[in-house]
Amino acid sequence: MKIIVTGGAGFIGSNFIFHMLKKYPDYRIICLDCLTYAGNLSTLASVMDAPNFRFVKESITDRKAVFALFEEEHPDMVVNFAAESHVDRSIEDPEVFLDTNIKGTAVLMDACRKYNIRRYHQVSTDEVYGDLPLDRPDLFFTEETPIHTSSPYSSSKAAADLLVLAYHRTYGLPVTISRCSNNYGPYHFPEKLIPLMIANALNDKPLPVYGKGENVRDWLYVEDHCKAIDLIIHKGREGEVYNIGGHNEMKNIDIVKIICRELGKPESLITYVTDRKGHDMRYAIDPTKIFQELGWLPETKFADGIKKTIRWYLDNREWWETILSGEYQDYYEKMYARRI
Ligand code: NAD
Ligand code: DAU
Repeated sequence: MKIIVTGGAGFIGSNFIFHMLKKYPDYRIICLDCLTYAGNLSTLASVMDAPNFRFVKESITDRKAVFALFEEEHPDMVVNFAAESHVDRSIEDPEVFLDTNIKGTAVLMDACRKYNIRRYHQVSTDEVYGDLPLDRPDLFFTEETPIHTSSPYSSSKAAADLLVLAYHRTYGLPVTISRCSNNYGPYHFPEKLIPLMIANALNDKPLPVYGKGENVRDWLYVEDHCKAIDLIIHKGREGEVYNIGGHNEMKNIDIVKIICRELGKPESLITYVTDRKGHDMRYAIDPTKIFQELGWLPETKFADGIKKTIRWYLDNREWWETILSGEYQDYYEKMYARRI
């Protein structure tokens, strides 16, 4: 089996590559990633020399390069993680989100059509469903929940999902889509809530909580997401959408307090800052379908996952300190100066 994994130098894609190479030593994995600010080749250092792994630095929006890679490799499957993934950046500047997340998806699927791929898997997000009110804990996102997006990011992901389903119906492309809740774990880029708070706390910097910190996210350890995708690409039904989530809803402020406690840092570091525009209140996934059809259940409890994650950031300071010392610093100063 030959699988092209796009966006494999990012957070979830890299964790997926590690999972697949370990579990399926006979598979050949080709990582296609153009290394945006969020892609980091050092993340893949441990697999770079593996005989069944290849890294290709190209953009999924580059039709010529994508078709040339398919011509050379004739992959069996494509798992598309490549995306612009940060909501705040999409609010600042939506254009690249449209290019990568929508056009890039179409380019990949055109190549899949030409080369008769066995499975195209789109890694999507629960954000395509919009948000749920805080006072209705009985409501959850199912696969039938209408698409109702809030940010340019989630709109671009939703547009891509619609294209994927259209390619299935119109051309018979063998596709699957997964819509997952918030992931956390190793190699999470330190612009996202959990790694940002860990890095800031370790540097005794203010912990910027948007609004009142009451927004709720449904956190899933990244390895559990990777295992779910593994199941879907092997056993999921073509043309189907699968929700993935941990039934682990938490308020942002509670997460930040846990991080303070685990690191022995004072809660006085917490600073309430201007809210995100259009900020989604609550995400909550109903994962019944993937449980009933494929037997998937999350394995890592949040209490353990957050400890493992914090340990990883303590043991891998060089990884995130290198990121924080680069051009990311300009982004941080620009974004957060405006919020305070
Ligand atoms: P990330 O930002 O950490 O990584 C994205 C990767 O894609 C980077 O390596 C980047 O270099 C690469 N990339 C970006 N544009 C590209 C292009 N044009 N061509 C090739 N490569 C490109 O993202 P992540 O958090 O790992 O998310 C991966 C996927 O999972 C995304 O599609 C995202 O929408 C989805 N998702 C993320 C979460 C989450 O909590 N992080 C939850 C659900 C779904
Ligand atoms: O739900 C899945 C989505 O989860 C993915 O599709 C996205 O790619 C991923 O980035 C994530 O989106 P969120 O917007 O939920 O994640 P983020 O880590 O940016 O923010 C989590 C919550 O924390 C959100 O309510 C905003 C808040 N927040 C975030 C940052 C960066 C803060 O309060 N302060 C911060 O500095």
